[in-house]
Parts: sequence; C-alpha cells; structure tokens
Amino acid sequence: MTNKKFEVNPWEVKGDIDYGKLIKEFGIEPLKELPEIFENNVLFRRKTIFAHRDIGRVLMAIKNKKKFVMMTGLMPSGNFHLGHMLVVQQMIFYQKLGAKIYIAVADLEAYNARGSTLKEMRKIAIEQYIKNYIALGLSSKNCEIYFQSDRSKDSVKANAYYRLASNFSRYSTFNEFKAVYGDISPGKMNASLLQAADMFHAQLPEFEGSVPIIVPVGTDQDPHLRLARGMSKKFKEHKFIQLSSTYHLFLPGLGGGKMSSSDPNSHIAMTDSEKEVANKINKYAFSGGRATLEEHKKKGGNPDIDVSFQYLKMFFEENDNKLKQIEEDYRNGNLTTGELKKYTIDKINVFLKKHQEKRAKITKNDVENFLYK
Ligand code: TRP
Repeated sequence: MTNKKFEVNPWEVKGDIDYGKLIKEFGIEPLKELPEIFENNVLFRRKTIFAHRDIGRVLMAIKNKKKFVMMTGLMPSGNFHLGHMLVVQQMIFYQKLGAKIYIAVADLEAYNARGSTLKEMRKIAIEQYIKNYIALGLSSKNCEIYFQSDRSKDSVKANAYYRLASNFSRYSTFNEFKAVYGDISPGKMNASLLQAADMFHAQLPEFEGSVPIIVPVGTDQDPHLRLARGMSKKFKEHKFIQLSSTYHLFLPGLGGGKMSSSDPNSHIAMTDSEKEVANKINKYAFSGGRATLEEHKKKGGNPDIDVSFQYLKMFFEENDNKLKQIEEDYRNGNLTTGELKKYTIDKINVFLKKHQEKRAKITKNDVENFLYK
C-alpha cells in the first residue's frame, strides 16, 4: 500500500484513508445497533457502511411506514465499476423499504469543476450509469433521475430547484467555502450550491413536501453535506428537516487507495471480460500474502489489507460462515494468495456474466421510464 499523506475533499482522495480521523474531524457518528432489516444487508452488517449523521428520523419513518426520500448523485466520469455498486445497492435497499429515490446526474458539476461537455456527460450517464442501475435491479416505479442541467420539463418544479440553489448562496460565506473545501473556485462553488439543492429540494412543496431525506455517501462527500446543512439552517423561506446521511468505506482499487474510473488498472469495470477480470486480479490486486509460499504457510497472510478478500467481504461472499472460514484460513496460512485470488475471480465472473446479460437487454425505453417525471 501507499503511504502518502492522507487528504480528503470532494474532488480528491489522496494517500491512505484514515477513517478514525474522518469520524473525529467531521463529527460523524459510528453506526451502532440497527433494526434487523439493516442487519440482513451485508453492507450494514459488515460495517462497510460505518457511520452516519441523524439516521434516526429515517429509521422512524421506516418503522412508521411514513414517506421518505433517498437522494444521491452520480458523477458521470467514465467506466462504471465495482466501486459504484456500493451506492446502487443502497438505492435498491431503500427503494425496497419504501423510499422514493432521487438521483441527480451531476453534469453541471462535471462541466464547471472538471471541464467536461454536457453532451458527453449525458451519454456517459445513460450508457454507463443508468443502464447498470437498471440491470442491478433499480425499479423505475418509485424513482426519478434528472440532470442538474435539466431538472424538469415542468417549469414550476424546475424553477423551484434552481431558485433553491441560488437562494442558498446567501447563507454561506466565502470563508466557509474555503474552510470546508480547502481550494475553491467559482465553478466548484456553483457545484456545491447545486449539490445542496439536490440534497434538499425534495422537501419543497413543488416536490414531496416535508419528508426526511437520507443521503448515503462516500466519506469524501461529507464537506458538501456540512455546507448544505449549514445553509439550510439559516434558510428563511422554508423550514427544512435536517438531512440524514450515511458514510461508506471506499471500495479499494486493485492496488489499494480508492477505486478510480480513470485508471482501468485500478478498477474492475462492469464490462470487463472473464479474462480481463482474471488478469487484473492476478496481476494488480494488492495481496496480503507473504513473499514466498513457504513463508505464507508458516506465518499466514493478512486479509485486512488483501484487496481480493475485501471484495469478497464487501460484495461477493454473502455467506458469513464461509467468509469467516476464508479469513481464518488465510490468516493461518492454509489458504494461499493464489487460491484466494482464484476464488474471488470466479465469484466476480459469475456475477458479471449475469449482469452483462441483463445489461444487454436494456432498451432506450427502459431508460426513458426513469427520466423527466
Ligand atoms: N458530487 C457528487 C460526486 O462527485 C455528485 C453529486 C451531485 C451528489 N449531487 C449530489 C452526491 C447529491 C450526493 C448527493 O460524485
């Protein structure tokens, strides 16, 4: 693993990730006891989703069968990979619990903060993201996906969204932006005002009215949440219910660090072939094994830093007993790195084969069902 200086902000995650520090610095709280429906989900049970702010009011809504919204945004940046699945699985989880799902395609953020074109972003969002969401099981029934650059064909709704983004700017200062983001530019400022509107606008009367909203994010997105929470408190025209949020670990990239769409050797894409998966895991997946087989058998490996093991833990080995066995065998040296990798490759390939078959059947019409409601 690398040993670079740890740094995290919404546009960059550098070095090794120190989650303890994130919890302390940002004041988010570790997730403790959760209702059984949450514990049945591997992401919660295995603490891949490990912290929260104000999750209580969403738990209440679920318990009392009240309406709530799950909101998230996607940055259309190249290949859809395993790391993106973390949020999608949460969308599906909350949708099954009765949430209405709002998804913002952050095309204006990409345009303003990353120099992309809107046309290209739209294409990537549909081909890479939305189609994969559908193949993974997201339903169009209780879900709307919109583009930041194109909120709604209904001008009453669209106006309310852009008005909110604009009005929020009154309730923050340049120094706050600087303190929250470090480096700031007008483009990034605009992106975070829009993101604040993304996160809160479902509560406006033009949308769902006063409902709790949960925003599951990677920890790098917390600065956006802090800023949005602050602005919403000072906002006079509407009394917002404070956001709930949860925080998940980053899925490690093959070589450690965060999985990145721009580096194909750091990720497994949903479109990778069986051969590519095998090759990537064998060649690039950081191993917690020892330098020689002999040493490994004697001293054992370290699953905590082994990327293949982390993939099994986060997604691909749903059976707790089996996972525990693998962990033990690896730790005591009975399971070699080669064997662990082979097991992981097979699991990923079984999953991807089914996924790719489903993905291939998705039509333009299926996509349209999610847009412009
Ligand atoms: N900034 C997010 C990203 O880089 C995308 C995003 C836009 C978002 N609006 C959002 C995420 C609202 C969560 C909620 O991926």
